[in-house]
Amino acid sequence: MRTRTQVGIVGAGPAGLLLSHLLALRGIDSVLVEVRSRAYCEARQRAGVLEDGSVVLLRDAGLAARLDRQGIQHGGIYLQFDGERHHIDFRALTGRKVTVYAQTEVVKDLIARRLADDGNDAIEFNVTGTEVSRLDTEKPRLSYTDASGVRHEVDCDAIAGCDGFHGICRPSIPAGMLTTWQRDYPYAWLGILADVPPSTDELIYSHHRNGFALHSLRSPSVSRLYLQVSPEEDIANWPDDRIWAELSRRFELPGWTLDSGPVLDKGITPMRSFVSAPMRYGRLFLAGDAAHIVPPTGAKGLNLALADVAVLAPALDALLHGDDKPASAYSATCLNRVWRSTHFSWWMTTMLHRTPGADEMEAQLQLSQLRYVVSSKAAATSLAENYTGFAALPPPAG
Ligand code: FAD
Ligand code: DHB
Repeated sequence: MRTRTQVGIVGAGPAGLLLSHLLALRGIDSVLVEVRSRAYCEARQRAGVLEDGSVVLLRDAGLAARLDRQGIQHGGIYLQFDGERHHIDFRALTGRKVTVYAQTEVVKDLIARRLADDGNDAIEFNVTGTEVSRLDTEKPRLSYTDASGVRHEVDCDAIAGCDGFHGICRPSIPAGMLTTWQRDYPYAWLGILADVPPSTDELIYSHHRNGFALHSLRSPSVSRLYLQVSPEEDIANWPDDRIWAELSRRFELPGWTLDSGPVLDKGITPMRSFVSAPMRYGRLFLAGDAAHIVPPTGAKGLNLALADVAVLAPALDALLHGDDKPASAYSATCLNRVWRSTHFSWWMTTMLHRTPGADEMEAQLQLSQLRYVVSSKAAATSLAENYTGFAALPPPAG
């Protein structure tokens, strides 16, 4: 079946969903295709922390009704090391805060809004055989097979590759056109979702001789916790009792206890830094994890994906009206923020994790860095302004 649209979008993660909504606000048609089911996209456990800029972006785009009711504002974090827990006060240091609101909820809100505005055709779930072609022409093509087996060829004015790190868009760019930078870390995160109220009022990042641990949350009754493990670790080796015992050890503090509860979900995530540039080839624009990945320490991945499409929507609007200038600036504009977050995430990650096989010198250097962050206002402010979002977002639609 041969059709046309203005913008073809690959991937219904946060980047693709928000882009299709921002384009719709500008009166621009899109076709959004997703390989997974709606239920799968809405249940996929990932990030949980939104920068103020991301909240403002979602609110200005009319997407924050539930976020404003259920999002939990945090004015800081705890850094724990050497048997002590220290508070970093974001509000006092920067005047800013962050909002705990799970990626699953952002995705649910976006899907509900796209379907309410444009009906069931707004998103094609369960597609197979996604391909993008003719990228160096003014009529790139998006091809896919829908859930009922019908093959679609969609002629577009532009295509947005929002299909994550393992998607097909970035590999569709001819060899030699992209420069990539990558670092794989010698550890991974074992994450659990637990049906128990959080044992803390703000997130705890703990550096421990057994490895890093993070206490986060999803709601007043659901906790999210992470443990540093080996990237080769098998989740089968981690029955719930072992996970809770190790979490208790890594957060141990006199007079404080970690409450445990039923584990609702668990999984292991590898840790990687990856940037590919430029984020444009002809009429294909990459956004979010399709173009860059950060290790999760510092909670930047989701915020970067939202920031990319906030820049991309007006750039595509201009391109469709004959002005290529914002589209030409898209990659450089985004990469500025991407590299800041890439550095911050690397810095948080290497400061807080135990590197397998590292010598005592590295351990002492990490502790010195942590002591500096909690005792110097300048160092604490640097962490706070990066964590809460360093670069101001451009305005969304309008
Ligand atoms: P994605 O959310 O990956 O969305 C891409 C979409 O494209 C997916 O729905 C995928 O199914 C779809 N797709 C892929 N290929 C095709 C195709 N061929 N055709 C059609 N559709 C396709 N960040 C944090 O800040 N904190 C965390 O704790 C955290 N945990 C994470 C855990 C995991 C397992 C992963 C993978 C990421 C995590 N992140 C975390 C990062 C954060 O979730 C991502 O940065 C964010 O999801 C990026 O959004 P996106 O829309 O760019 O990509
Ligand atoms: C969460 C994940 C992170 O990577 C982080 O730094 C903070 C919170 C989370 O999933 O809640």
